[in-house]
Amino acid sequence: MKILVTGGAGFIASNIADAYIKEGHEVVIVDNLFHGKKENLNSKAKFYQTDITSKDLEKVFEKEKPAIVNHHAAQINVRESIRNPYFDAQTNILGTINLLQLSQKFGTKKFIFASSGGAIYGDPKKLPANEETPIKPLSPYGISKHAAELFIQQSQLNHTILRYSNVYGIRQDPSGEAGVIAVFAEKMLKKETPIINGSGEQTRDYIYVKDVVQANLKALEKEGTFNIGTGKETSVQQLFQELKKILNHKKEAQHGPPIKGEVERNSLDITKAKKELKWEPTHTLNQGLKETVEWIKQHP
Ligand SMILES: NC(=O)c1ccc[n+]([C@@H]2O[C@H](COP(=O)([O-])OP(=O)(O)OC[C@H]3O[C@@H](n4cnc5c(N)ncnc54)[C@H](O)[C@@H]3O)[C@@H](O)[C@H]2O)c1
Repeated sequence: MKILVTGGAGFIASNIADAYIKEGHEVVIVDNLFHGKKENLNSKAKFYQTDITSKDLEKVFEKEKPAIVNHHAAQINVRESIRNPYFDAQTNILGTINLLQLSQKFGTKKFIFASSGGAIYGDPKKLPANEETPIKPLSPYGISKHAAELFIQQSQLNHTILRYSNVYGIRQDPSGEAGVIAVFAEKMLKKETPIINGSGEQTRDYIYVKDVVQANLKALEKEGTFNIGTGKETSVQQLFQELKKILNHKKEAQHGPPIKGEVERNSLDITKAKKELKWEPTHTLNQGLKETVEWIKQHP
């Protein structure tokens, strides 16, 4: 099948593009290289350096007529979304609408979307959050990701929405939602002392990128909205200790002030994905961290 992957020069979607190509699909990548890197691009993919909000996107659809659109291009920085909500909405909402309209016009059969379970549920009363948890985003980024979901649900297109927890792994950028792993590992490799914001008791649900890739393979066959995470909470302090062991780092972390507006705890219930998508993570945190650290060492 011909699959158009947006954001395919970025962290998550470059890994997805690689897997789709390995499975024998024809992959077309659209990325404006705002945050993505050319070296992440699979050489077997056709690449268009195009902005998803631009008029030029129509030419790509006209030429390629993709059977499937896998949409990962986005403004991903929560703090940036607070500084500049207009730009965030332009990329994440209007960019998605542009893709939906073109998908409909050029006969795309299916739309897969990367949403954020970490951002749209906000600070849920009950953890792990399932797909019925009330949507209460705490940032413009969370609002724009959910607005995009609503536009997709309203469209006539078959769709699968994957609500990721905090994704980490190879090609990860320190500024992403699970950026703390790259930040800590890079500091420890330089024998510097990492700084934990606040107490370190804040938790996240860290999912390895290779497990996220598997969910995107399964999403080709199944429709619906699914949380994609591990269902487990890991504190920043635990994460620090795991990395310390892997890297044989001797120094303890220093603590800085907590980040304002940061969610205290988070984890996603993945019962629905297990049952309906027939997906579940296969990498432990330790395995994923070891692979990530090896990759960071080879790409200083
Ligand atoms: N990293 C996480 O933990 C996480 C968690 C939940 C959801 N997500 C979602 O997954 C997707 C991928 O995130 P990532 O962490 O790989 O980020 P990333 O920044 O590495 O990838 C996003 C890509 O989109 C491209 N892009 C940005 N604006 C564009 C535009 N206007 N036109 C074309 N391309 C554009 C960037 O250049 C980049 O290559 C995003 O939609 C993000 O919201 C990520």
